[in-house]
This record gives sequence, C-alpha cells and structure tokens, in this order.
Amino acid sequence: MSSSRPRLLQYGKLPLPQLDSELAQRYDVSLLSAQSDPARFLAEQGAQFELLVTSAAMGVPAHVIDALPNLRFVSSFGVGFDSLDKASLLRRGARVGYTPGVLDDCVADMAFALLLDAARGLSAADRFVRRGDWATQRFGIQTRASGKRLGIFGMGRIGGAVARRAAGFDMQVSYHNRRPVDGSPHAYQPSLLALARACDFLVVTAAGGEGTRHLVNDEVLDALGPQGFLINVARGSVVDEAALARALRDRRIAGAGLDVFEDEPHPLPELLTLDNVVLAPHVASGTHETRRAMADLVLRNLESCLATGRPVAEVPWSAAQ
Ligand code: DGY
Repeated sequence: MSSSRPRLLQYGKLPLPQLDSELAQRYDVSLLSAQSDPARFLAEQGAQFELLVTSAAMGVPAHVIDALPNLRFVSSFGVGFDSLDKASLLRRGARVGYTPGVLDDCVADMAFALLLDAARGLSAADRFVRRGDWATQRFGIQTRASGKRLGIFGMGRIGGAVARRAAGFDMQVSYHNRRPVDGSPHAYQPSLLALARACDFLVVTAAGGEGTRHLVNDEVLDALGPQGFLINVARGSVVDEAALARALRDRRIAGAGLDVFEDEPHPLPELLTLDNVVLAPHVASGTHETRRAMADLVLRNLESCLATGRPVAEVPWSAAQ
C-alpha cells in the first residue's frame, strides 16, 4: 500500500509508548524489531528509508546503517549518543538529532535521590521495616549528606543541574572536566583522581564512549576512600563495574547509587548481593514530563530535518559535517 507520508524506519519500541503512535500518524513507519527477519527486511527494503528513529538505549549498529544506503536523518530519543555508530553515520553523511537539555533536571534529581538513598540507607530502611525487623532491632546509623563535599565528574548541563541542587544541601562543589568551565563558581580539579580525593560524594555525569571507558577504576575508588560514595547517572561504561563491586564488598568505599550499568539490563550479579549499593534500572529521565519533552524533540528534529535539512538539536560530530 503506497502512502503520501514519508517512510520512516523505527529501530525498536521507544521509551514513551505514545511516541510510537505519534510517529505512525505522521510517517509510514516500519518497526525493524517487529520484522520476522530483520536482516532480510533490510536487504529488501533498506534503500527506501531516508529517516531512522532510535533511542540512546537501543542505539543503532553499523550493520543497520550500512543496509540503509539512502539514510539522511536519524532522530534519537536521548541525550547520550555513544550507542550510535559514529563512523558509519559519518560515512553515510546522515545528520543526527538527539534530545539534550530537556532531561537535565530529572537526571540531576535522580542523582540526588540515589545520593540521599545511599547516604541515609533509605532503600535498606524500607527493606528493614517490611521484613518486620523494626520490632526487634535498631536500624544502623547512617551518613549525613548536607554540608559535605560533592565532586562532579563531567560539568555539562546535567553536572550543572547537580551542582545547583547541591547548593540547597550546603555542599561544597568541585568538579573535573576535560577543561575548566568558563565562569564556573566551583573549584576545578585537574584530574579525576584529585577530584575523588577531594570529595565525599563523587557523582558521574560524564558522557559515555571510548574516551571515558573505565575511568572510574580501582585507583579512583581508593582515592574516594572508605567514607566516600559513588553515584553514577551517566553511563555504566565510565565505571569499572567489577572494580566497584570489589570496593563495595571490601568497604574500600562506603556505598554507591547506580542508575546505569556496563551491560544493561544485567548488573554484575555481585552488586545484587550487596546492601551498600542502591540500584535503579536506567530510569533517570523516566518521568511523564521529561519523556514527553524528549518525545516532542524527537518529532521536532524529524520535522526540522525534512524542512531545513538539519535537526534542531544535532549531536556535535554530526553538526561538524
Ligand atoms: C539518555 O538520554 O541518554 C538516557 O541515558 C537514556 O539512555
């Protein structure tokens, strides 16, 4: 059946179900993950697609891009772009839109939720009450968060939103970034190691990808030390998860709060056995309000690509083409 709507390849189901239907109203959508034989579908129909929609969580691998010889625009649901195959997209000359800016507050809120939970033992306290332990035991004394030193690794938009929240908790903020941020009121630490030494709570908000892989390693965790907490709302790949599990088990750090993991949705099994780590299933942006704003930007990026040849919010390496 022919359609006057532009054809669009949707890589998989999106993190806001309404967006699936909104795309289907505006475009002639084929859902790749619903095809019985996706490779065959791509071989037969790949050349018909100029538009591709995916998400930061799903990404898009090189073999899919290679099967789309006429691909011009990608609109990705999410702020991370480490899962989009940069080399093939650049080779293809496709312009790539994403959704920065609209999720900063919710991701920073989640960083603080994890920080407070890890410090005050909120999830552990909930388990304690539900088990009925309250009638016979005292819940262990926990760690104060207010007034402590907060280290932010990655002072971008989300790092900045974390720093603003820290002011309400009377925390002293310092940060490490590839370079100091012009006009930042916060102390710059010249290395991640120096940052870890200088803080009680180390919050990771740095972008994922090869450049940051396993930067939070044994050495950094030891610099954070037995009173220190690690919070990760960025990408699991930034932290050496096996090293983190060892450090938590051996109490070389006090605790952690994690929304992201190296191999999602499979946190390292040892983490599940530890009581000094709070785990969330990569949901920092998962509020109705923020997911709606992300969906709107996915749609606007597509419209803008078709109208002007470029998305309104374009990943930095795509914009440089
Ligand atoms: C993002 O937007 O990159 C979130 O982490 C979801 O993957």
